[in-house]
Amino acid sequence: MARIPLVDVKAQYAPLIPELKRRFAEVIESGVFILGPNVKAFEQECIDFLGVQDAIGVANGTDALVLVLDALGIGAGDEVICPAFTFYATAEAIARIGATPVFADIDPETLNLDSDDVAARITPRTKAIMPVHLFGRPAPLAELAALGLPLIEDSAQAFGSSEIGTTGVAATFSFFPTKNLFCLGDGGLVAANDPELAERVRMLRFHGSRDKVEFELVGYNSRLDEVQAAMLRVLLKELPRFNDERCAGAQVYRDLGLGDLVTTPGAAVGHVYHLFVCRSPERDNIRAALGEQGIATAVYYTTPLHLQPAMRQFGYEPGSLPVTEQVARDNFSLPLWAGIDGPTQERVVDAVRQAARQPVG
Ligand SMILES: Cc1ncc(COP(=O)(O)O)c(C=O)c1O
Repeated sequence: MARIPLVDVKAQYAPLIPELKRRFAEVIESGVFILGPNVKAFEQECIDFLGVQDAIGVANGTDALVLVLDALGIGAGDEVICPAFTFYATAEAIARIGATPVFADIDPETLNLDSDDVAARITPRTKAIMPVHLFGRPAPLAELAALGLPLIEDSAQAFGSSEIGTTGVAATFSFFPTKNLFCLGDGGLVAANDPELAERVRMLRFHGSRDKVEFELVGYNSRLDEVQAAMLRVLLKELPRFNDERCAGAQVYRDLGLGDLVTTPGAAVGHVYHLFVCRSPERDNIRAALGEQGIATAVYYTTPLHLQPAMRQFGYEPGSLPVTEQVARDNFSLPLWAGIDGPTQERVVDAVRQAARQPVG
């Protein structure tokens, strides 16, 4: 039987290949590869799509975070509160600019930051909160904003969610090929709602200069390139459909009764299902059984960030973030992408059903 991948990236863009090739050829013919018309147009299209004040194309989602932190003047001696149940880049960006990541625990229902735990960790040194819209589900922005600190929304996994991008001082995005909005390589974006912050990010992505003549800041070389921007302009037009299809796929899993077998992600407002992440005490058995049937699954953040070797310097011990550590032990994700078909999902649910019936051990 055919293998089922966790995400079929190519199936999503396959019908668009002729158009992508045409745009690719146009860039080659133009001879302009860095900060040209496609980047400018894509930035404007993102401003319109996201409803934000400004958007700056950068090299990847990690740099997007670093550039925002740097532009806000955050550095040594400052603290930024973030989850430990997220991709490493979230905390890495904070540590990279010399600040201290302060890890808060998550809500077991949403897997996003628990705002009460965030509130308890605020100190006079806290300069920002960095919520992650994990797996495409919006973090509790209103509750976090009420804490009175700047929010930097790590939105790498949630482009196109109606709920995100306008509450924080900035939202950052990754266009890594498995993301909801993706390019054909690395790419990223900073969406900013403060003109001064946007201007600083724009300068920082190009060596701290506005005009390539005067260098006002010590910056970076972190630009989205023309080829990727040209691809992204094609794919952004498809994004509402991509996200609708992801949401429809998530609903199919629920309709097939998956929720009777394992804990499934809820149908939250604004959820764009970057991943379909379930939980079960039987996760290892279920994964092994699905693997035998050629069905790919994945587990996320099995060593949460506070326990990663590079983050041990910040003094967290096992047991310090109980919900995070429990979810790290029992989560697993099932195949989902824009355009996944019903029979494929039925095969997945049948396999989970069979596995759930097996005796443990
Ligand atoms: C939550 C989160 N933050 C940041 C990043 C970093 O993005 P990139 O891989 O484009 O640097 C990712 C991407 O993998 C992510 O999932």
